[in-house]
Amino acid sequence: LTVAVLISGTGSNLRALLEAAAEPGFPARIVVVGADRQADGFAHAEAFGVPTVLVPFREFETREEWGDELRRQIDVWTPDLVVLSGLMRLLPAELVDAWAPALINTHPAYLPEFPGAHGVRDALGAGIAETGASVIVVDSGVDSGPILAQERVPVLPGDTEHTLHERIKPVERRLLIETVRAIATGEIDLAAYRTDAGAAAA
Ligand code: GRF
Repeated sequence: LTVAVLISGTGSNLRALLEAAAEPGFPARIVVVGADRQADGFAHAEAFGVPTVLVPFREFETREEWGDELRRQIDVWTPDLVVLSGLMRLLPAELVDAWAPALINTHPAYLPEFPGAHGVRDALGAGIAETGASVIVVDSGVDSGPILAQERVPVLPGDTEHTLHERIKPVERRLLIETVRAIATGEIDLAAYRTDAGAAAA
């Protein structure tokens, strides 16, 4: 299974996936890493000899034009699966339609709890005893697609957004690696999540 990973930041989840994919016998290969801004995580791709694609969001007039260019550059590698792992940018609907259901996202909360860009901060603010990590199929909403994997993570007294996020990330990485493995082996069949917009519109 060939995989494209899209990031915006440190790419610690990406690094875990690169390390897993480097293990002999892992059934998936990371073929390209893309970002919507100059991401520190590119260093991980370079360390593993994986090509990187930078498509700066701020250089485009509209989200759609950015999405078109991102799709053009990523599709050069014809990936079987696109993984959003710390991409802090909503994809335009056309791009979701083009890539889904072979398009998954990791989120640092127990969806459908706390969707959106501040899932960790929101869980902390809610004063609950546990939050979680989730891997979903991306749909046209924000963190609203079908859940492929999720696991609870405790919130501890004195937690800050950073300490809580650092406790969530290892769980997120493990879920992401296992989900990519399950997709590669066919244990998870993403075709089951195809929502043909055309059919729906008919
Ligand atoms: C991850 O928790 C991801 O789910 C969230 O932001 C974090 C990115 O971390 N969107 P990293 O860039 O993988 O270190």
